[in-house]
Amino acid sequence: MIIKYLISFSFSLLLALVPQVFAQEGESSCISCHRELEEDLAKPIGLWQESIHKKNGISCHDCHSGNPKLQDMDAMSPEAGFVGAPKEEDVPRFCGKCHVAVMENYMKSPHWQTEKERHPVCTTCHTAHHQQRATIDLINEKDCSRCHTYERAKKIRFVMEGTEGSLVQLDGRIEKLRGEGFNTQSLEAALFANRNEFHRLTHVLSVDLIINRTGTIRGDIKKVEKSVENDEARIKHRKIGGAILIAFLFISAFMIHIYRKALP
Ligand code: HEC
Ligand code: HEC
Ligand code: HEC
Ligand code: HEC
Ligand code: HEC
Repeated sequence: MIIKYLISFSFSLLLALVPQVFAQEGESSCISCHRELEEDLAKPIGLWQESIHKKNGISCHDCHSGNPKLQDMDAMSPEAGFVGAPKEEDVPRFCGKCHVAVMENYMKSPHWQTEKERHPVCTTCHTAHHQQRATIDLINEKDCSRCHTYERAKKIRFVMEGTEGSLVQLDGRIEKLRGEGFNTQSLEAALFANRNEFHRLTHVLSVDLIINRTGTIRGDIKKVEKSVENDEARIKHRKIGGAILIAFLFISAFMIHIYRKALP
């Protein structure tokens, strides 16, 4: 009895440990070593874990390069292409190796064109390790009045608000369709492309340009909206069809019941 209990206990212990062993093996050396280091060197891990980059599989070495398979300091060797913490003026190119179009837009703006000492860079607005999905809420009085009056930022926010509203609303409707079992891949892709173009545009900081492009973007959003409406109508029909079928079955069962009762 005791032996049987012990066997089953050690078996469950093993089961509990296996995933951890695998997690450790799959984990990059950047994380396993930095976790044990002092505050400033360990802190990025917790911040990154809550970031949109973590959700999308972008890890330490995707930004800093290096070799995440080596367990010692060679992981950060120049041969492995390691880039440490970038200097402020190098940040746009550091982030821009992936966010190419955003960087191009940003470099056209007064935020980059102005003298070095005063410019906000990517991390000023998005942080270095805790980036979240970008929304219009990044344009707010607290963050945008640190270096100049909020008036300019407010204007940009104002011309973006309507379009942002439609994007958010459509996002919710597409999510509902997905919940109903619809294949929403092409809708999502279309919306994604529009949202990205629209959000990138912010970085140019030109009200005229935003107003100018908003017309075309809104036209494209309308097309997505139309497809969403069609799918929603299909669901409605499906629901009505289902209700009719259930009512029919119900009545049939009732008739059979009456018929049976009427039999001698
Ligand atoms: C064996 C432990 C260890 C491993 C593995 C390791 N690091 Fe480090 N890392 C350190 C230590 C210690 C420091 C601080 C001393 C220094 O800068 O050399 C550091 C510093 C850093 C810095 C700051 C450098 C600067 O310019 O201020 C970054 C960024 C960094 N590591 C990223 C990484 C990445 C990315 C990886 C994986 C490819 C990695 N580390 C792997 C121990 C490690
Ligand atoms: C999205 C790109 C990106 C990712 C992913 C990323 N870093 Fe960084 N990291 C930066 C930037 C940019 C800086 C420069 C700091 C600044 O501008 O405030 C930096 C700075 C650092 C520093 C120097 C100390 C500090 O906080 O300034 C360390 C250490 C570091 N990173 C470690 C890591 C580790 C460990 C990971 C993985 C958990 C990681 N980084 C993931 C962009 C990134
Ligand atoms: C190795 C490629 C890579 C690097 C380098 C990188 N990112 Fe990203 N970033 C991604 C991916 C992939 C996503 C998720 C897909 C998406 O939503 O665009 C993302 C998403 C984002 C988002 C959210 C976008 C949205 O759709 O709302 C922001 C903001 C962001 N990154 C900022 C930064 C900043 C700031 C840096 C530099 C410190 C940086 N990224 C460096 C690949 C990268
Ligand atoms: C002055 C603040 C500021 C700076 C500097 C800045 N951004 Fe942004 N970023 C924003 C705002 C605001 C939005 C979202 C606007 C919206 O909701 O339309 C945004 C949106 C984004 C997005 C989402 C766009 C998309 O394709 O979906 C990414 C990615 C991004 N920024 C990356 C960067 C990178 C990389 C840099 C540096 C080259 C940078 N940002 C510099 C404020 C800034
Ligand atoms: C780190 C400082 C800093 C922060 C933070 C900052 N800006 Fe700026 N901004 C500048 C500088 C510097 C200029 C260019 C010089 C000037 O015109 O004063 C500028 C110029 C502008 C302009 C004027 C463009 C034109 O047509 O002349 C707008 C619009 C603007 N910023 C919007 C924003 C928004 C929106 C935010 C918040 C998401 C923001 N700024 C945050 C420093 C900053």
